[in-house]
Amino acid sequence: MKPSALIVTLLSLLVLTDYACSLNILGIFPYHGKSHFIVFRVFLRELAKRGRNVTVISHFPEQDPPKNYHDISLAGSIKAIEGEAPFESSYFTLFLGSLYLATTGVDNCKVLLADDKVQRLIKENPKFDVIVVEQFNSDCALGIAYKFQAPVVGIMSHILMPYHYERLGVPYNPAYVPFHFLEGGTKPSLYHRVERTIFDFYFRMLNRYYTQRSNQNTLAQYFDDIPPLEELGREIKFLLLYHNFILTGSRLFPSNVIEVGGFHVVDAKPLTGDLKKFVEEAEHGVIYISFGSIVKASTMPAEKVQEVLNVMKRLPQRFVWKWEDKTLMVDKDKLYTNSWLPQVDILAHPKTLAFLSHAGNGGTTEAIHYGVPMVAMPVGGDQPANAAAIEESDLGVQLQIRDLNEENLLNAFRKVLDPKFRQRVKEVSKAWHDRPLPPLDTAVYWTEFAAKYPNFNFRTAAADVPFYQYINLDVAAVFITIISIIFIVLRSALKICCGRKESKGKNTKSNKVEKKKAKRA
Ligand SMILES: *[C@@H]1O[C@H](CO)[C@@H](O)[C@H](O)[C@H]1NC(C)=O
Repeated sequence: MKPSALIVTLLSLLVLTDYACSLNILGIFPYHGKSHFIVFRVFLRELAKRGRNVTVISHFPEQDPPKNYHDISLAGSIKAIEGEAPFESSYFTLFLGSLYLATTGVDNCKVLLADDKVQRLIKENPKFDVIVVEQFNSDCALGIAYKFQAPVVGIMSHILMPYHYERLGVPYNPAYVPFHFLEGGTKPSLYHRVERTIFDFYFRMLNRYYTQRSNQNTLAQYFDDIPPLEELGREIKFLLLYHNFILTGSRLFPSNVIEVGGFHVVDAKPLTGDLKKFVEEAEHGVIYISFGSIVKASTMPAEKVQEVLNVMKRLPQRFVWKWEDKTLMVDKDKLYTNSWLPQVDILAHPKTLAFLSHAGNGGTTEAIHYGVPMVAMPVGGDQPANAAAIEESDLGVQLQIRDLNEENLLNAFRKVLDPKFRQRVKEVSKAWHDRPLPPLDTAVYWTEFAAKYPNFNFRTAAADVPFYQYINLDVAAVFITIISIIFIVLRSALKICCGRKESKGKNTKSNKVEKKKAKRA
């Protein structure tokens, strides 16, 4: 290389690294659910580790923030939610869930805007190159992002919510698009399609006319120039979705909706202490049971617990169960319980043969990461859709809570314990990892892409087309009009030429009447 070329290369490298390092990134996370932030945290820390200047508004300040990571903490401003969901899945719990979504969407916005540190930041108005905003149950943060006039990237820790399809121009069709809160996956029955049509309408209306309207009013108390939040939603440059088609199946997404699922899973550590002994001495392997952090296993009805215990007696495997109290009377050689368990380390252990879970997105991602077959028993939220995806992707089988009994659970375990099933799950896991760019790099890449090209818009035209055009009502109207005109013209033409013949020929009724009239006259 010539010295001049070398200098040019070095200089451009300097400019490039300097560009990336000088990026000023703001993250706004008004929702206080820990299971979501577990995902975002990995991404935000990574941005800081790569030298970007990262400021994060959230309920989860870092204990040991990396250099360049600045917290604006909302911790303690709203009641935590962990451990409150009942072990039940019905229209009633779905309704309660919808109210939870709507009211927290309203409260999170009020808390966010009432925060002095947030208000100070808005007043200081530093220049941000890109703003990362969670897309969940509130668009409030989009209003704040608007004040900084920076490109916005949306991020989610799960599949799309019903009200996100329209703004992104993603086709929603109950016939093949799995519905967040309900069963049926990509192959719904007629019952499921009717059910999801009703609930889709309900969730969209609740969001638009309650949560979003309230957020808009809250914002208006502080600022007088915030555009309609739905419009700001359409301005999002990219949406980072936390899943991948190997699990969810091939979806119809525009170019600016990016699948980045998988990056939160940490490398497993070896098990330690009694748990290590219990797992490694299991001659026939281990089955792991956990219903996550929001559902407490100890709120499970006693008769359901008994069904699970009965199944344990009929299988040779040992069981490890995340269980919060010490009341289970089972042989210590058969069952190990604890209120906290190192989930990733258990799933990564070669003795772990199956995972009975509520199909939360975190645990499901960890299971596919380490290739552990699942029995998915959804409780609420996105879990019914995840459970359907688990079954459709061959990662496991679903078992609804209403069907939980000794025989059904035993059959589900027998199915996923089959060596052939296990082999298939290992293949699914291999395909999940096989990507052109690791998911964390993908997420960082498109976030910085949005910062680099702030004047570009990557939204599909489908998001901008008025509804009547989207379903081609006007085109249909044109054709119907033309066909009607041709029909009318033809008919009158036929009447004129054939009508003359008729008047010459037959004595038709009208002819007779006219003749009578003529006689009288
Ligand atoms: C990085 O972010 C912090 C907090 O928002 C801010 O005070 C600081 O000025 C920023 N640094 C640079 C170099 O932009």
